[in-house]
Amino acid sequence: MTRSSRIPGFYKLPLAERREKLAAAMGVDAAELVAPLLDEETANHMVENVFAVYGLPLGVALNFQINGTDYLVPMCVEEPSVIAAASNAAKMVREGGGFSAEADEPIMISQVQLDGVSDTLAATQAIDAHAAEIIRIADAAYPSLVVRGGGCRGLEVRTLKRSTAHEPGMLAVHLYVDVRDAMGANLVNTIAEAVAARLGALADADVGLRILSNLADRRCVRVRCRVPARCLATDSHSGEEVRDGIVAASRFAELDPYRAATHNKGIMNGVDAVVIATGNDWRSVEAGAHAYASDKGENGGYGPLATWRVADDESGDLIGRIELPMAVGTVGGALRVHPGARLALKVLGVERASDLAMVMAAAGLASNMAALRALASEGIQKGHMSLHARSLALHVGATGDMVDRVAEEMSRLGDVRAEVAQQILERLRGRNGHAHKAGGIS
Ligand code: MEV
Repeated sequence: MTRSSRIPGFYKLPLAERREKLAAAMGVDAAELVAPLLDEETANHMVENVFAVYGLPLGVALNFQINGTDYLVPMCVEEPSVIAAASNAAKMVREGGGFSAEADEPIMISQVQLDGVSDTLAATQAIDAHAAEIIRIADAAYPSLVVRGGGCRGLEVRTLKRSTAHEPGMLAVHLYVDVRDAMGANLVNTIAEAVAARLGALADADVGLRILSNLADRRCVRVRCRVPARCLATDSHSGEEVRDGIVAASRFAELDPYRAATHNKGIMNGVDAVVIATGNDWRSVEAGAHAYASDKGENGGYGPLATWRVADDESGDLIGRIELPMAVGTVGGALRVHPGARLALKVLGVERASDLAMVMAAAGLASNMAALRALASEGIQKGHMSLHARSLALHVGATGDMVDRVAEEMSRLGDVRAEVAQQILERLRGRNGHAHKAGGIS
């Protein structure tokens, strides 16, 4: 069944009805979407010293269309407004034809450190001359990967620059391994260990570390979007003003690493939420993203992963682009055991790791656009304060529709503090109590 990611009014529905709507959009029974809790027994087998299970909200971002296909995007995140912002931005991008995306082949890097190399050139030549043999050893270490269409695609010897000419040489040998739909860390670690001894012998070197590189720059994903300026308008700013503000914000990040770090944090709000929801390793994605950003600045050094420009045609549309490594999988890892991750993948409906990577990058680009749009117009605090008001209302004990009523009253007063929330709640409860006694009329 073709899914639509447009579900108008979704956010206003009570949770159970929202689940019904989501299930209908997916073509499944709502019971299949019920509380994906991780039980203690499973948790106890996942990591060490378990004494409890920790929960996070699992939401869904709407309106995403990537390469012409609609996606319901599961997001697991503790920060308010991330999911709403991504959904909102995706709706504007949809007006411009949706996201277009492409992903590299799923090539991970397996690194072997060779130390104490007296002649780095001779060592490099010896390894290069035996490349076919090394690749055979690598493939033999994981025959099932070869059966699935993956395997070692090549190798490269890198001579690392040392600070003094007296230090013995160090090489980093890279094996490029196609891991298909896995994230691939275990695969490439096994391969690194399998080939290390032979590499050490060929280079007459001490074998050092044997591990993947999290700078997975052979496994990048690129996403582009186009947004008509009129879609960007806010209550106080025209679409053109907001568009130009977003471009100026992009330039700020391109010129200043201090801003680029925050700009990229906003991107990772979207990326990580999908990475976590689908049981992937977010530390690895984070490490790869920031290492990749480390030379993207216009003045050298750290820079933004996404940039924004006005289209160089007549349209005046806003064009956004993002590129980053995305080492994620749809098989293995936590997915095997975590029911929430399996549910999230079912909501998303992807099987290929490359499709998952494209969705994650689109979520990152959408989150970035939403943040820059707010920053370039009203500022971020207005939206944040109303969400903060809601969490204060919950904190002082408001439930049901009282949460919104307390939050709205605080926003109206322009005074968002716990004691104010408490006073408003008591006042509203008192009023409701009277209303009950008086026969429900207030
Ligand atoms: C907050 O989680 C993310 C932002 O700081 C991102 C940005 O400044 O672009 C709003």
